[in-house]
Parts: sequence; structure tokens; C-alpha cells
Amino acid sequence: MRLSVTVNGASVERDVEPRTLLVDFIRDELGLTGTNIGCDTSQCGACTIQLDGAAVKSCTLLAVQAEGSSITTIEGLAPAGGELHPVQRAFHEEHGLQCGFCTPGMVMTAVALLEQNPDPTDAEIRSGLDGNLCRCTGYENIVRAVRRAAEAGVTA
Ligand code: FES
Ligand code: FES
Repeated sequence: MRLSVTVNGASVERDVEPRTLLVDFIRDELGLTGTNIGCDTSQCGACTIQLDGAAVKSCTLLAVQAEGSSITTIEGLAPAGGELHPVQRAFHEEHGLQCGFCTPGMVMTAVALLEQNPDPTDAEIRSGLDGNLCRCTGYENIVRAVRRAAEAGVTA
């Protein structure tokens, strides 16, 4: 099937098999390997992207379901010129990662969370991230990072 989407601001057209998962299309067809695959049960959130502004687990969708949509991956989050997005900067400053495998998904979820709720409580941050698993950090620094990003403003 022919698939037309916008990915990180660029128009993309490809022929895809109807059974292709969106995460596989992003990684294997587009080479955007910042979107990780951490499970086969739709639990870990490592594959989280933004689809028309909403955080979604890209392993839970077929690529063809994204037809006509705008996709942002972790590669498209930062502004041009080498600057980090404020949420990425906050994760760096608060050491909100160890191995980093969950980090792209955490960041994409956190960005969507802060866009919906720019001043979340810690409980709201934890609730907002409960679809993203981290095996390393114990989550404390991740919550601190999201709080710091909120204080800095996600559009800064
Ligand atoms: Fe998508 Fe784990 S790879 S939720
Ligand atoms: Fe290793 Fe989260 S930093 S899984």
C-alpha cells in the first residue's frame, strides 16, 4: 500500500506492506533508530512517538494507520542547530537516564504530557509516565527532569 506521512517536518511517501508496524517503518524504512523496541507486549513505551501531537506507542499501530498524519520522532524534537529540546536538556541536567534505552520514549511522552499540563504535580508526572518503563533509574531523576523541564517551560 502507498503511505504518505509527514515525518519530522518532511513529506515521506513509501510503499509498505499492510502488516508493517509503524515502529518498524520508522526504524527500518526511514532509519530513525532513536525510536526503540523494548518489548513485544506494548508495555515498555520505548517506541513512543508523537502522532498528530499525541504520544503513542508506535508498536501498537500499523504504518498504514498513520496515513496522512504528522509524526515526530526523537530525532525531530530538537530545534535545528544542535540545541537540545528543553525536555532533553532537563534529562541531561537531572541525570534522568542511565543506559538510555527508555529515554527517547520517556522524552516523547514527557513532551506530550507537558504540552497538555505545563505545571504538573509529581503525582501527575508519575501518572503521565506510567506507560513507560525504565529498568535502570528508579524513576526519581526522571520525575525531577520532567519537573525541571516544566519549570523551564517546554517551549523555551
Ligand atoms: Fe512498544 Fe514496548 S516496544 S511498548
Ligand atoms: Fe536504562 Fe531507562 S535508563 S532503561
